[in-house]
Amino acid sequence: MTWDVRMRNNMFRRLPVEQATGRLYGGRHRLRVVYRTRDLVVLGLGVMIGSGIFKISGEQAATTAGPSVIISFLIAGGVCFLAALSYAELSSIVPVAGSAYSFSYVAFGEIWAWVVGWALVLELLLAASVVARAWSLYAAQALADFAVPVPSWLAGIIGQEKGFDLFAFGILVLLIVMLATGSRMSLRSLWFMVMAKLIVIGLVVATGLKFFHAGNLTPFVPPERPAPAGAETVLDAVLGAVTGSRPEVFGIWGIFAAAPAIAFAYIGFDLIATASEETDDAPRKVPRGMLTSLAIAVVLYVAVAVAMVGMVSPDRLDPAKPLLATAFGLVGADSMGKIIDVGAVLALTTVILVVLISLTRVVFSMSRDGLLPRPIAGMSRYRVPSRATLVAGGAAVVMSQSVNVLTLEQMVVIGTLFAFLFVSAGVLALRRDRPDLHRPFRVPAAPVTAVATILATGWLMLNLKVQTWGYFTVWMAAGILIYLVYGRRKSQMKLLLDAPPPARPVAARMEAPPPGVAPFEGAAGFDAFGGSTPPDGFPAVGRHGTGGRPNVPAPESPYPTGRYSAGRREPHARESGPYGREGTAEPPADPYALDPDVPNPFASGPHPAAGRYGPEELGSNPYEGGRYGTGPYTRDPYVQEPYEDGEREEPPYPGGRHRR
Ligand code: ALA
Repeated sequence: MTWDVRMRNNMFRRLPVEQATGRLYGGRHRLRVVYRTRDLVVLGLGVMIGSGIFKISGEQAATTAGPSVIISFLIAGGVCFLAALSYAELSSIVPVAGSAYSFSYVAFGEIWAWVVGWALVLELLLAASVVARAWSLYAAQALADFAVPVPSWLAGIIGQEKGFDLFAFGILVLLIVMLATGSRMSLRSLWFMVMAKLIVIGLVVATGLKFFHAGNLTPFVPPERPAPAGAETVLDAVLGAVTGSRPEVFGIWGIFAAAPAIAFAYIGFDLIATASEETDDAPRKVPRGMLTSLAIAVVLYVAVAVAMVGMVSPDRLDPAKPLLATAFGLVGADSMGKIIDVGAVLALTTVILVVLISLTRVVFSMSRDGLLPRPIAGMSRYRVPSRATLVAGGAAVVMSQSVNVLTLEQMVVIGTLFAFLFVSAGVLALRRDRPDLHRPFRVPAAPVTAVATILATGWLMLNLKVQTWGYFTVWMAAGILIYLVYGRRKSQMKLLLDAPPPARPVAARMEAPPPGVAPFEGAAGFDAFGGSTPPDGFPAVGRHGTGGRPNVPAPESPYPTGRYSAGRREPHARESGPYGREGTAEPPADPYALDPDVPNPFASGPHPAAGRYGPEELGSNPYEGGRYGTGPYTRDPYVQEPYEDGEREEPPYPGGRHRR
């Protein structure tokens, strides 16, 4: 086998950044753009403020850390903030739906991408199932608290911890149908529910602080005591083997031991990255939305923790009961129980909604790349990945009904932390391998920050239960097997590499801009809409107008005809008129659109590897230009479409959504 063939079959083949984002071959983004920064903040709060806020502070205070759980929340929040910086940098470079999966594809290669994607699927499938079960418990509790009569046949199938549960089933099916028929409706509902739950959290904090007694905070760090059976962490096991020590809770170590469970509470900021393809000006807005929502969530969680442990001493709490409501009951504020029920039902609804959105985007990305069956990446007429929604949502329904998921919460955490490791390492890898890439967001002191993130994340992972690691190993082993049997052979990267090279090098025009030059920005360097002369090696972009700028001779083009040849540029879009030259009615042409004269290896229709790419409706390859996956490049996939219902009067900038 030649070196070339070995490379093609190589499981470490990397997805080029330009291909991941669609910049190279005309765009692979087919999802509808619906999010602005504030939507992303709502999305983040929608998923971060969930069962965690009503449960985790009390639970960890009562079982692991005492009042110092407040510090645990700050530690977990700090680690998540470090990870969020890495997510922010990578999503500013690769703003696509696959999030950590796509980042790993670009930074480390296909097998690692698969492994991370598989871990994300675990995280999100389980999160949806666990939270749906918790939703059912709170909803049943709400019916009881509001004295709603429930027939006996129904009482046995709602609010169940395991076995069939009608509420868990119903909420999942309802949200899946909503998502499969268009995310715009779900976005409106999300806004409403997030606002309502923030009001409830505000009431919880205000009422809790009314009953605050400093005495409840002492001792702030309770003395150590032996850990209950079955709670042994990997770190305990290692220390036990080396030093013979026995696992303990509380004390100084208890503060750190509580942090991984608390990481569950913050899970969600990472999911914002999966909304990148649906976000207007994603390279800037996704980092902003992610960091803002995480900062707000940390403040809210710490506020609830202070209210909780300041209201009732952790010794008086029974972790088996709904802790926040119990605490309010103990201080005589019984009516808060009902408010918490309503808040929890709303909060958990938004968690399930956002988790399902992210799950479907990850599954959609993996299918688009051929690592899962490509038909799953099909789009519906609502321009949402309905098939991915139905497949992934269906799996969540089955999991929620067939597995005792409430005992598997830590599996959600381990899947998430595993992805954190790859994302922070990805920052280092791409800084080394692709320093030329424009980074609208940069991790401050990247090498130190990324290494600190890896160490802190690794520490949290070691504090997870041995049993969690065991299950996670089985899940990952199954994933690797599936990749070897299916994904490795069906990968679109493999098929594209196997295809004969195009007759002419269409990619030549998209070489990376020189370091430090913002591509497609008007001020300096190479501006796709006009402006200065392209750097050496860039062919002239002739299709930007027939009028052209006087006295600027077009550099000689390597291509004899078409857009690469004698054309000239329009004046810069910002200089005059909404779309460039005054009086020019048309928006600037797509700088990535293809020349009909130049064979496009990624276009629909006859392809060197035609027939091997799956169903017709997806087109013959995943990187095609048509937004709906049919036909050739008919429009610029980066042109911002107006929002529905006239919500946005005009595009925020002329042309592409991914200008940098
Ligand atoms: N962060 C989410 C919650 O607390 C998963 O429910």
